[in-house]
Amino acid sequence: MKCECGKRPLDIVMSHILKIMIEDEIVPERATLRRNSPVPLSGFYYSSLNPQFIGEKTLILLHPDFTEDVASRLINEVPEVKCVLKGSPQSTVGQLDRNSQISHFEILEGDDTQINVMRTLLGDKVVLLKRQSRHHIEVAMTTEEKLLRLHNYINNNDVKKGVAVDAMCGLGALGIYLAKLGFEKVIFNDVNPEMIEALKYNLEINGITDGYEIFNEAFEDLEVENADLCVIDAFPGVDVDEIVKKAEEIADNVVVI
Ligand SMILES: C[S@@+](CC[C@H](N)C(=O)[O-])C[C@H]1O[C@@H](n2cnc3c(N)ncnc32)[C@H](O)[C@@H]1O
Repeated sequence: MKCECGKRPLDIVMSHILKIMIEDEIVPERATLRRNSPVPLSGFYYSSLNPQFIGEKTLILLHPDFTEDVASRLINEVPEVKCVLKGSPQSTVGQLDRNSQISHFEILEGDDTQINVMRTLLGDKVVLLKRQSRHHIEVAMTTEEKLLRLHNYINNNDVKKGVAVDAMCGLGALGIYLAKLGFEKVIFNDVNPEMIEALKYNLEINGITDGYEIFNEAFEDLEVENADLCVIDAFPGVDVDEIVKKAEEIADNVVVI
């Protein structure tokens, strides 16, 4: 079932993976792709509406019942698999809020590095490198939508491109976009030190060399100057009342993404 370029379609690759999971009895014999597949995360994600043909060593798989034996079979027998992670797709990796512990998916085998490329209205792309075991799952298309919303807010509200705060910056997509958009200064902040580490790398690969400051604190505790814009991008379900209140105190414009 290979294309002439040598790649197999995603559903064929996933069937191959499910067959191994059935043989190793971590899913029922009558398992289906819809119910029992692991979550397939692409090692290189460029948003596209075309059918997905998968190259070698590009898929990162996530399932709560993976074992070391299955992981080793998947890496050795399915050429497209580059990493096998154990964990629940429903759980949030990283740090949910200021009071939570940092959590990770377990790497059973392989390399969990993922690169996302986001197209933007600037004609310039935003590129994010992440470790899928420790940085939240968010596909490029979702981040593109966030960048679009931010872009429209700035245009429709005539926001001054002075100081911007990316209050919960994570890997840095929103703040990096603001820097590319021409803000004089972008303040990046995140409570999770592992995010700050990834952010520094992402600033470098996006060519942002100056015009920014980085803080590693709960936003609620951050001492920050007055800003023209503050962007809030919390995990779904997190209560952001206190964070929004603080943002409104320091910034003329507050966008909750
Ligand atoms: C949805 S993610 C942000 C995604 C981000 N826009 C990106 O480009 O990766 C939410 C982030 O909020 C951070 N966070 C959670 N509670 C926080 C708090 N009280 N103060 C600052 N950062 C916080 C998390 O560490 C996480 O990186």
